[in-house]
Amino acid sequence: MSKQLRVGMIGYGFMARTHSNAHNRLNNFFPVEHKIVLKACTGLEADKVSQFAATWGYERTEDDWRKIVAADDIDIIDICTPNNTHAEIAIAAAEAGKMVFCEKPLARTVAEAQTMVDAVEKAGVPNMVSFNYRRVPAITLAKQMIDAGRIGRPFHFRANFLQDWTISPDVPQGGDALWRLDVKAAGSGVTGDLLAHNIDVAMWLNGPITRVTAKTETFVKERMHNITGKMEPVGIDDACLFICEFANGSLGLFESTRYARGHKALKTFEMNGENGSLAFNLEEMEYLDFFEYKGTEADTRGWRRIHVTNGEHPYMNRYWVPGLVIGYEHSFLNALADFVAGVESGVPAEPTFRTGLQTQKVCEAVLKSGRTGAWEETGVEL
Ligand SMILES: NC(=O)c1ccc[n+]([C@@H]2O[C@H](COP(=O)([O-])OP(=O)(O)OC[C@H]3O[C@@H](n4cnc5c(N)ncnc54)[C@H](O)[C@@H]3O)[C@@H](O)[C@H]2O)c1
Repeated sequence: MSKQLRVGMIGYGFMARTHSNAHNRLNNFFPVEHKIVLKACTGLEADKVSQFAATWGYERTEDDWRKIVAADDIDIIDICTPNNTHAEIAIAAAEAGKMVFCEKPLARTVAEAQTMVDAVEKAGVPNMVSFNYRRVPAITLAKQMIDAGRIGRPFHFRANFLQDWTISPDVPQGGDALWRLDVKAAGSGVTGDLLAHNIDVAMWLNGPITRVTAKTETFVKERMHNITGKMEPVGIDDACLFICEFANGSLGLFESTRYARGHKALKTFEMNGENGSLAFNLEEMEYLDFFEYKGTEADTRGWRRIHVTNGEHPYMNRYWVPGLVIGYEHSFLNALADFVAGVESGVPAEPTFRTGLQTQKVCEAVLKSGRTGAWEETGVEL
C-alpha cells in the first residue's frame, strides 16, 4: 500500500479519541487503497498533547494547530475541538488545500457554517461533517429499508436525545472541560450538541425539514464561569422540544434535554409509514425494530427485532461473524471508511459541509422559534 493519507489531529479529547481509534483501525478492517498515517496532533495543554500522541501513535506534536494546517506532510485536518474553533480551523485548512473532517455541529451559526462551505467548495477539497450516527449499521439499514419503500408513505418521525448531567446548579460553565455550557464556545446547548444528530438522521431518512416551532428552556439561569471565576448568566438551551413539517408532508416531533434524570444518552427515533414502522434505541444499538403491515397476515402481524449483525447488513461484512455485535466506536470507523472511499472514487461521502449546513439551518430556526414562539421557516435546500 504505497498511497498514504496523513492525518493532522486538532484536539485530544473525547472525539479525538474516537477518531484516532478509527484512523488506527481503518486499514485493519476496510480494503481502502490508502494507508492512514497519524502524523501530528495538537491541543491546548502540551503535556496532554504528548500523552495523547504516545497513546494513539502520532509521530509528532505541535503547539499550535496552524503549524499542522501549514505542514506539507499532512493531507487531512481532523477537527475535534469546541464548536467556536471549527470555522477558523476549517477555513485555514481548506485554503491550505487540505481535506477537512470536522466534528459536528459544523459551526455555531448558519453564517459561520456558510463561510466554511464556501471555503471548502472554493478550494475543491474533500470535506465531511462527523454525524457518525448515520453509520450505526441499524440506522443505515433503516435508510435502506425506507428507500426501498418498506414503510411506504411516511407520516411521523419522532426522536429523543436525553441526558441528565447538568441538573446540579453547582456544575460550572466554560473553560476546557465545560465549554459545552458556555454559549460563546458552544453556540447553543442541547440543540447544537444533541438535536443536531437527530436532525441529521431525520433529514437523511425522511428528507428536508421545512418549518419548525420550538420551546426551549434554561433551567439553571446562572453558573460559575471557569475562566472568570464569577457567576454568569447561562446562554445555552438546557432543553429543547420542537415540532416540524417535512417537505414530504410528514410531521416531526423532537425532544432533547440534559435534565432527564436517569438517562445518560437515550437516543431514540421512530418512523411511522403507511405500510410499516421502524424504531431505534441507541442503548440497544445492534437492533432495529420493524413493524411490517403490508404483505403480512393479521394473526401473526407484530413488531419484530432485526439483529443487525449479518453479513448482508450495512458494514457488518467487514467485522466478525453473524450474531456478533460491534459498538459505538465503529460508527466512526465506518464513517472514515466512507470518507476515504469517497476520496478514492471521487464521489464525496455524505454528509458534506453543505449537508451539515442544512442541519445548521434547522438548528438555527429551532433556536429562533424558541425565542419568538412562532413557526419559523428553515430555508433548507430542497
Ligand atoms: N459526533 C459525536 O457524537 C460527538 C460527540 C461529542 C462531541 N462532538 C463534537 O466534537 C467536538 C469536540 O468535542 P469533545 O467532546 O471531543 O471535546 P473535549 O472537550 O473532550 O475536547 C476538546 C479538545 O479541543 C482542544 N482545543 C480547544 N481549543 C483548542 C484550540 N484553540 N486549539 C487546539 N486545540 C483546542 C482541547 O485541548 C481538547 O483536547 C465538538 O464540536 C463536539 O460538539 C461530537
